[in-house]
This record gives sequence, C-alpha cells and structure tokens, in this order.
Amino acid sequence: MAKKAIAIDGPSGAGKSTTARMLARELGYKYIDTGAMYRAVALAGLREGLDFDNEEELAGKLTALAEEIEINFSSPDRKGRVEIFLDGENVTEEIRKLKVDQLVSRVASIAGVREVMLTKQRELARNQPVVMDGRDIGTRVLPDADLKIFLTASLKIRARRRLRDHHAQGDKITLEEVEERLRKRDTRDRERAHSPLRRAADAFEINTDEKEPEQVVREIRDLFREVV
Ligand code: CDP
Repeated sequence: MAKKAIAIDGPSGAGKSTTARMLARELGYKYIDTGAMYRAVALAGLREGLDFDNEEELAGKLTALAEEIEINFSSPDRKGRVEIFLDGENVTEEIRKLKVDQLVSRVASIAGVREVMLTKQRELARNQPVVMDGRDIGTRVLPDADLKIFLTASLKIRARRRLRDHHAQGDKITLEEVEERLRKRDTRDRERAHSPLRRAADAFEINTDEKEPEQVVREIRDLFREVV
C-alpha cells in the first residue's frame, strides 16, 4: 500500500515550511523540504564555480551535478526542525543565504535538474509517510497525495515574513528589496515551462495572511481527518 502523503504548495513566504514542519511533527511523518533540495543544487553549482551567465552550458552542467551530489535530511529535533546535508556537510544555514536565494529559481527552471529531483522526491515518499512542501508537489511530484494544500498570502505579508528571516540570519536587506526579489522569483516560478507553480485542481487553498501557523496546522489536520 502507498505511504500516506500530504502535499503543500504555494509561493515564497506563504508559510509552507513552518506549517509543514509542525504538521509532520504532530503526525509523526517525515518533513521533506523540496525547496531546500533545489537550494542545495544551487549551492553545489556555486561551489563548483559554474558560470551562471552561460545559459547554454549551465543546464547540462547543473543536471550532471544534481545527479552526482548526495542530499540528505536529518531526523527532526524536538521542535521538528530538520537539517540538510550536501555530500555529508551540514548546509542548513548556507542554503538560506542571499546568494543562493538569487540563483535558486533559475536552477529550478532547468528541466534536467527537475527530473533528477523528481526521482529523489518520489523515492523519499515511497519509503515513509511524508509531508512534502514545494511548488509542484500536488501537480507533479505526488499527484496521488492523500491531501493537497495550496497556501497563499499577500505579497506584503510574505515580504515581511521573509525580511524577518533575513534579519535573523544577519543579512542586510530592506523590505522593498525583499518584496522585489519575491516578486521576481514568484514570476519565474509561475511562468516557467516545466512544472510551474500552480494550484492542483483538487488542492484546498488556504490564505495565511491573518492566521498563526498553529491555526493553519489545525485546519490542515482537520481536512486530513476527513479525507483519510
Ligand atoms: O523558502 P522559500 O519559500 O523562499 O523558497 P523554497 O521553498 O526554499 O524554494 C526555493 C526555490 O526553489 C523556489 O523559488 C522555486 O524556484 C524552487 N522550487 C521549485 O521549483 N519546486 C519545488 N518543488 C520547490 C522549490
């Protein structure tokens, strides 16, 4: 029998990772942050010194690199936080840096990279019950997920949340800059040819503008009870 799976998609800053992490902890499922996987590929590319301006070569090189590298998640700590390892090295903090932020949606628009990640992500979901978050989980990675959620929030609120994250890790950036970057990344994610960000027809949409994470988690848990 297929393992249980909850898919959570939506744009940057809608609250996916906080919600998915809390939910996974409550249910005793594994939390898989697929954005972190694309970030790890972007970081690997940076470390290899790939020329990100050379579009022609970049796709092939990044796809090969995505296949070569090993990406692992730790078991959750008491707060449900998981760490991500790139070839055995803990890169949890480094993948959140601005330089990765700027490159990641370009990396994620490469078809070859997406194919490699798709295989890895499906394999993870085959082995254990998961809460998986990303952009294309309900539409492509796990089209048969038991429950699909699409989280949204206004750009202003999403930018404020992201600004808080950036300041917490010591990045110097203004609200306007964060907003502009989010807008760019959202557009790229929505308009790309391969697995663009969109709500699956059978996904429940939740707007998180005025909701605490606890409330969102409660709503998803209630929906989950109804469907399984
Ligand atoms: O944390 P934040 O919401 O800003 O982004 P993320 O979830 O870490 O994802 C970073 C980027 O990876 C996104 O902007 C997408 O370009 C890409 N991504 C994707 O294409 N497909 C996924 N399933 C997850 C992330």
